[in-house]
Amino acid sequence: MLEATPNGGPNVPPAMMSEQALADAIATLPRERVAFLPTPLEECPRLSQALGATRILMKRDDLTGLAFGGNKGRHLEFRMGDVKAKGCDVYINVNRWESNDARIMAAACAKLGVRYVLVVRGGVGKPMEANLLLEHLMGAEIHPLETMDRDETNQEAERIGLQLQEEGYTPYVYHQQPFARVAGTIGYLEATVELAAQLAERNIHPDYIYGVAGTSMAGIALATKLLGYPWKVRAISSGDRRNLGNMMLEYGQEVQDILGLPDCLQPDDFGYWDEYIGGEYAVPTPDSARAIKLAAETEALILDPVYTGKALAGLMDHIDQGLVDSSDTVVFVHTGGLPNLFASTFRESLSDAIGSG
Ligand SMILES: Cc1ncc(COP(=O)(O)O)c(C=O)c1O
Repeated sequence: MLEATPNGGPNVPPAMMSEQALADAIATLPRERVAFLPTPLEECPRLSQALGATRILMKRDDLTGLAFGGNKGRHLEFRMGDVKAKGCDVYINVNRWESNDARIMAAACAKLGVRYVLVVRGGVGKPMEANLLLEHLMGAEIHPLETMDRDETNQEAERIGLQLQEEGYTPYVYHQQPFARVAGTIGYLEATVELAAQLAERNIHPDYIYGVAGTSMAGIALATKLLGYPWKVRAISSGDRRNLGNMMLEYGQEVQDILGLPDCLQPDDFGYWDEYIGGEYAVPTPDSARAIKLAAETEALILDPVYTGKALAGLMDHIDQGLVDSSDTVVFVHTGGLPNLFASTFRESLSDAIGSG
């Protein structure tokens, strides 16, 4: 766990800029509006009751559209803006077979008429189901590779890029585009303002915003600091990189530079926990399986086995440990990832953990 003196409480620092000034800075970027926004903010009374009365609301970013939605619906609006602004006509992505990013970029490319090439790390022999099935349906040109090595798979993407260039295309190779990496942080600056307006309208004053550590939570932490929102931001890692807390800081700082925002994000502006990853990335833990089951049976709210299940398991443990109190209010950001629930690999590990239910 890593949480120094988080913002929030009676000593909330004042806003460093207005919501309008932030919106104006974001509006300077090219953008393709394809996601369903704003997403709903849902009260979860039965889940709250099951967890000892802490009030819980879900920010339903699993409902952003684009082939089963997710946080990347917000990211890709800026990525695709960059693609179009650079005059590119092929998007080349490299990712794992479980990747939600790979699926939602396939959706964006299909919708906007951009050719989509996907190099899949460790993709050889993977069954055509879940995200992979959707990618095939949406016309992705899939290159499965045996190797999981990032350098090797990136080189393959670059090789395909050069070949397409010779054929007259203008490719956008994801890992060679630093902006594409932080587009999610920009999307979540705006998501935080959207959430603040929904909360104000309903006179709700959360103590914490919880979610999966990554570019999105970096945006929430940065917007919270810039705009002086009175809540603490807590990020639970589900990822394979145990230094994701440091990376969140880097994402925030890069976005400050891109948008010319005050240089403000500090390590103690958000809490970060990586102990809920369990043994491995993309392998559900018994606690995450229990969290998925509880959310489903109390609220018909479906979480995913790679990311949000582990994040809710983290929140549940924080409630057990007293890091969140029964009088507190929490907004949990549901970042999506739902197709993976239908992948046979996860079905087995989930049914092991859940039993017959
Ligand atoms: C469903 C889901 N939630 C959260 C994340 C965390 O990362 P980020 O915020 O960078 O998208 C991911 C990353 O792939 C994801 O697929």
